[in-house]
Amino acid sequence: MPLKLICFILCTLIASNLTGLLGEDIPLPAPQNISILSTNMKHFLMWSPVNVQGETVRYSVEFQGEYEREYANESWIPICECSLITVTVCNITEDISATVAYNLRVRADSGTQRSEWGTLNGFFIRNTSKS
Ligand SMILES: *[C@@H]1O[C@H](CO)[C@@H](O)[C@H](O)[C@H]1NC(C)=O
Ligand SMILES: *[C@@H]1O[C@H](CO)[C@@H](O)[C@H](O)[C@H]1NC(C)=O
Ligand SMILES: *[C@@H]1O[C@H](CO)[C@@H](O)[C@H](O)[C@H]1NC(C)=O
Ligand SMILES: *[C@@H]1O[C@H](CO)[C@@H](O)[C@H](O)[C@H]1NC(C)=O
Repeated sequence: MPLKLICFILCTLIASNLTGLLGEDIPLPAPQNISILSTNMKHFLMWSPVNVQGETVRYSVEFQGEYEREYANESWIPICECSLITVTVCNITEDISATVAYNLRVRADSGTQRSEWGTLNGFFIRNTSKS
C-alpha cells in the first residue's frame, strides 16, 4: 500500500475517533442572552439558540415565583407549553399570575445531551410591562 494512502486512512481514523470523543465530552452549553419582552401585560421569555451541528435542539422553561422561593423549598415549576420546544421564545403570560418577583430559567436538550440551566439575570416583575 502506498504510504500516502496509509497516512490518509490513519488520519481519517484518528479524526473520526476524535470527533466521536469530543461529541461525547463537550457538554451542551446552557442557553444565553435570556431576556424578557413584556408589552401590554403579555410576557415572553427569549434566548439565543444553542447550535449543534446536524442535531435538533429542544428547550424547556421553568419559573419560580415568590411562593415557590419562600414557602416551597425553592422549587421550580415547568411550563408545559414550553417543554422540549424547538423555538427560542416562550409565552409565559399565563404563568406570571401575580405582581411578584419571578425567576426564570431555560435549558437545552439534544439527543442524549442536556445542558445546565441558563437563568434570567435578576427578577422579572410584571409591573415593568410596557404599553
Ligand atoms: C448574545 O447576544 C450578543 C449580542 O446580540 C451576540 O453577539 C452573542 O452571539 C449572543 N450569544 C449567543 C450565545 O448567541
Ligand atoms: C428541599 O430541597 C432539598 C434539596 O433539593 C431536599 O433535600 C429536601 O428534602 C427538600 N425539603 C422538602 C421539605 O421538600
Ligand atoms: C400568549 O398567551 C396569552 C395568554 O394565554 C394569550 O392571550 C396571547 O395571545 C399569547 N400570545 C401569543 C403571541 O401567543
Ligand atoms: C414594581 O413592584 C415592585 C415591588 O412591589 C416595586 O418595588 C417597584 O417599584 C415597582 N415598579 C414599577 C415600575 O412600578
